Amino acid sequence: MINNIEILFLLLYYSKELLETVYRLRATLTKLRYLDILRGNERKMKMSYHVGVISGDGIGPEIVAEAKKVLDAVGKKFGHEFEYEDILMGGCSIDATGVPLTDEAINQAKNSDAVLMGSIGGNTATSPWYKLSPELRPEAGLLKLRKSLNLFANLRPAYLYEELKEACPLRDDIIGDGFDMMIMRELTGGLYFGARETKEVDGVMTAVDTLTYNENEIRRIAKRGFDIAMKRRKKVTSVDKANVLDSSRLWRSMVEEVAKDYPQVTYEHMLVDNCAMQLVKDPKQFDVILTENMFGDILSDEASMVTGSIGMLSSASLNDTKFGLYEPSGGSAPDIAGKGIANPIATILSAAMMLRYSFDLDKEADAIEKAVKQVLKEGYRTIDIMPQEEGKKAAVKQVGTKEMGDLIVQHLQ
Ligand code: IPM
Ligand code: MG
Repeated sequence: MINNIEILFLLLYYSKELLETVYRLRATLTKLRYLDILRGNERKMKMSYHVGVISGDGIGPEIVAEAKKVLDAVGKKFGHEFEYEDILMGGCSIDATGVPLTDEAINQAKNSDAVLMGSIGGNTATSPWYKLSPELRPEAGLLKLRKSLNLFANLRPAYLYEELKEACPLRDDIIGDGFDMMIMRELTGGLYFGARETKEVDGVMTAVDTLTYNENEIRRIAKRGFDIAMKRRKKVTSVDKANVLDSSRLWRSMVEEVAKDYPQVTYEHMLVDNCAMQLVKDPKQFDVILTENMFGDILSDEASMVTGSIGMLSSASLNDTKFGLYEPSGGSAPDIAGKGIANPIATILSAAMMLRYSFDLDKEADAIEKAVKQVLKEGYRTIDIMPQEEGKKAAVKQVGTKEMGDLIVQHLQ
């Protein structure tokens, strides 16, 4: 028989259990609420990125200023902060320090999340920088930076905007629906970094440049090329000169080895002279062009010109980390420097590549790319992308560097 006292104890015991359950439940709910608040705060918290900025020479400072303007607008819109640190490189560094790239500048670049660059160098015929010995000239700074940061993979997308067909020097039947290719250039090996010298041999001035590649250097760039192809139309054209060069024969066999790991990617080999011809004969055939340093330098200028202007071509130089150096593929154009007419689009698109590849900000990168397209669609052009035929000029509006930057900011969505 249960007596009254026992009933009382039972009641007390169960109410204690009940109370504890209520407390536990309340604690869990509070924890969840805090988590939610934390998550909300995290979302609201501004992400800050440290961007090294190499404005450089010629049109460099003008075009970089526009890219920063666009980045700041993106930051405001999407809640990020970009802090900039100026880094000296090229002719301006020679003037200030006597060398094109100081160790301090290399460290500044290394300590940045990514580096945005304009352009370096001057007029090779008239600038005093070109009276210096080769290792002290502006370009030597860029090569040293690429090597010091191990930036072996250079991506140069060449894409024909529908709106720029008029600026494309190719015939309409060749252009067709346009083209979209990615040049993957090896950037820290080959002729640019081999031993070189100029000396007198038996009374005759003789110059030697060495083209060296080892299997590891080829394998790692080939892998990058195939990885990129997997995210695109899954075709790789590996470009070499295997009918003459040993380095190209090794290149070919390494590419074949890497290709085995990418059964979904179609690949072909193409000789560089043929590739130069195919780029103007039928650019649509290309998806990813994978090639060594010097061939990539030359072919990327050619590819950019068939997109209308080198002022449209962005580029990313990457290593094995998230770090990257982002720069337009064009040069410093000293002839138009300071006139406010240079096309800032390649630099602005390079900033978009920085958001995509170094910071994983795809939405933000898309926004920039869409804004560029929209501005072109509305008929705004810098001088380099004006239609070539007189009659077609009236349909578009020519703008300067700053106006183009402003228009892209206004069109960010
Ligand atoms: C480029 C440039 C450089 C290169 C020069 C400036 C050294 O032409 O980025 O394509 O040849 O790599
Ligand atoms: Mg070049």
